[in-house]
Amino acid sequence: MTAHDRLVGVVGTGTMGQGIAQVALVAGHPVRLYDAVPGRARTAADAIAARLDRLVEKGRMSAEERVAAGARLAPAQTLGELADAALVVEAVLEELDVKQQLFRDLEDVVAQDCLLATNTSSLSVTAIGGALRLPGRFVGLHFFNPAPLLPLVEVVSGSATDVTAATRAYETARAWGKTPVACADTPGFLVNRIARPFYAEAFAVYEDQAADPATIDAVLRESGGFKMGAFELTDLIGQDVNEAVTRSVWEGFFQDVKFRPSLAQRRLVEAGHLGRKAGQGWYAYGDDTERPEPHTAAPAEKPAYVVVEGDLGPARELLALIRDAGIEVREEDEDNGTRLVLPSGGQLALADGQTSIEYRDVVYFDLALDYRAATRVALSAAKDADRRTLEEAVGLFQALGKDVSVIGDMPGMIVARTVARIIDLAHDAVAKGVATEEDIDIAMRLGVNYPLGPIEWSRRLGKNWAYALLDDLHLRDPSGRYAPSLALYRHSYAPEKREGSQQ
Ligand SMILES: NC(=O)c1ccc[n+]([C@@H]2O[C@H](COP(=O)([O-])OP(=O)(O)OC[C@H]3O[C@@H](n4cnc5c(N)ncnc54)[C@H](O)[C@@H]3O)[C@@H](O)[C@H]2O)c1
Repeated sequence: MTAHDRLVGVVGTGTMGQGIAQVALVAGHPVRLYDAVPGRARTAADAIAARLDRLVEKGRMSAEERVAAGARLAPAQTLGELADAALVVEAVLEELDVKQQLFRDLEDVVAQDCLLATNTSSLSVTAIGGALRLPGRFVGLHFFNPAPLLPLVEVVSGSATDVTAATRAYETARAWGKTPVACADTPGFLVNRIARPFYAEAFAVYEDQAADPATIDAVLRESGGFKMGAFELTDLIGQDVNEAVTRSVWEGFFQDVKFRPSLAQRRLVEAGHLGRKAGQGWYAYGDDTERPEPHTAAPAEKPAYVVVEGDLGPARELLALIRDAGIEVREEDEDNGTRLVLPSGGQLALADGQTSIEYRDVVYFDLALDYRAATRVALSAAKDADRRTLEEAVGLFQALGKDVSVIGDMPGMIVARTVARIIDLAHDAVAKGVATEEDIDIAMRLGVNYPLGPIEWSRRLGKNWAYALLDDLHLRDPSGRYAPSLALYRHSYAPEKREGSQQ
């Protein structure tokens, strides 16, 4: 790609432009900044210089490197000063006509072999590129905020992008110390598309009155293995920002119900409860405001024994934990059963897509990323469920050292429905050529910090786990929101490859 001594132009010097410029600068490039507002490029250069000083203070950059980097950075008064650039990255206002006009102007200035890139997060790369005379050299380079810290870059090919341009952009990101993933130009690209259910399902559980935000967040963190719950995370991101992404993906997919925004989040935005920055979001923020506690069940007696019927599937590892806790495990061969039977005669079953109201004597427990490491497990029982069964279920998980949150009836509970939907969107994206399985897993781990990539997660959970859960959910909520994709069907039910088969 672009050798380290070639000039990089950055247009639009707000949050993202400054971050991208810093990355290019630290990688060794001369960098020229341009902004439409006079004086702003100069201010941005000063802000970047101050950040470099901090890197030196923290021992992450040598004083010599700092001086050399400072000498390579300059503001530009006009776009014309970017004429020698080998690459220009645009990070201006998120509006199609503004970006199109900018690239028309840039094309009049730069050389024919200059790579042109947009950092748009929600517009179509194809649409912006439509304004160019040579759209083949135009590509999306989607950095995440803060660009100097976050490793992921989505390299987005519009329908006119040349393979050579995409490869150059990919190699450049890599040379800049980033982890690029290649993806096609579809709404939300890769991360913002596949991550939607993480927020949507948490909000749905809340809207259905099955649990409060603090409990849902605690279950996502302590059971699901996510770094933050959906409520605290969107308070950090900003409800307006998070909702805008959701709406743009939903609109991009012609209002597909699978991406439908949340009414509860809409109300927050309308009320100006935008999260931390507003002092109020799902939670209140302030010096003496305490975060509400998640629901945690009172101590209950542990059962003397459990009977295992069949294979517990993704919850198999529970058996060793139960034995370690000194509870007898009696195993019974059952062709159809996949449950634990408690001394009361009631049953404990891993969340599937069925509702608790269908079975008075069944208590559901939620999926955990790793039952040994989980510090909390959610249970769900019908309102009129047998109290003894619920008590025994609570006592069982407490004996394993877990906090227990009892939530209302919610098919697929919290973690299980969220993970199943993310897996579905991931397989759908692969089937539609958005990205490879490997890149999807990399992107979701680096872009949104998931503990496992969705494809890897789906492998661990078993071939048709997500399909079976979503199919059950779809039966109970036929809006289409949970309808498993054709891609997931194919993945789940494709015959195993025969040995010696050429396919
Ligand atoms: N903020 C994020 O978290 C984030 C993450 C990824 C991508 N993005 C995308 O990056 C782009 C910039 O976002 P931001 O948050 O840095 O915005 P920002 O508001 O902080 O900065 C935008 C800058 O562009 C300048 N500008 C506007 N129109 C211009 C033009 N025609 N020519 C030159 N400069 C112009 C503005 O003066 C401003 O300095 C957007 O496309 C956004 O969608 C943002």
